[in-house]
Amino acid sequence: MENYMKLEIAALGENESFARSAVAAFALSLNPSFSDLSDIKTAVSEAVTNCIVHAYQTNGEENKILIVCRTQKRENGGELHIEIIDYGKGIDDVDEALTPFFTTLPDDERSGMGFTIMQTFMDGFSLHSKRGEGTRVSMTKSIGV
Ligand SMILES: Nc1ncnc2c1ncn2[C@@H]1O[C@H](COP(=O)(O)OP(=O)(O)O)[C@@H](O)[C@H]1O
Ligand SMILES: [Mg+2]
Repeated sequence: MENYMKLEIAALGENESFARSAVAAFALSLNPSFSDLSDIKTAVSEAVTNCIVHAYQTNGEENKILIVCRTQKRENGGELHIEIIDYGKGIDDVDEALTPFFTTLPDDERSGMGFTIMQTFMDGFSLHSKRGEGTRVSMTKSIGV
């Protein structure tokens, strides 16, 4: 059975923990392990933080993040698909951005490991971005397989 949820939030730091908890709560119907939930929260946290710190030049409530989650339930667990979308400045060179330790904000305590963490903790990952239009991170977690 398929299920989905869509969540639109302002790209503000205070929404980061809400976003990761909301996605984790939605995933509960797939009976994830504690470790699955922890992986999902970590990956969502990195993606949402990127929208907040990198996508938008100015801080404001009009800057939005769209989170779309879909689940495909199987007998034991299933698949969780997560898309995290912003309408910000986009990424010029996607391959460069995916390189471990690459960051455009080195002075700002950024480790450059966000995308590496998302790829490590999730089972599927892809990044689409267009300069001036925004960025979409798609991730999949297989639960109970
Ligand atoms: N949503 C986004 N919008 C624009 N640029 C982004 C976005 N997410 C990531 N980036 C770019 O990709 C780089 C690498 O991201 P990441 O691996 O999370 O490292 P960090 O966030 O520590 O810089 C960032 O430094 C930034 O230049
Ligand atoms: Mg990051």
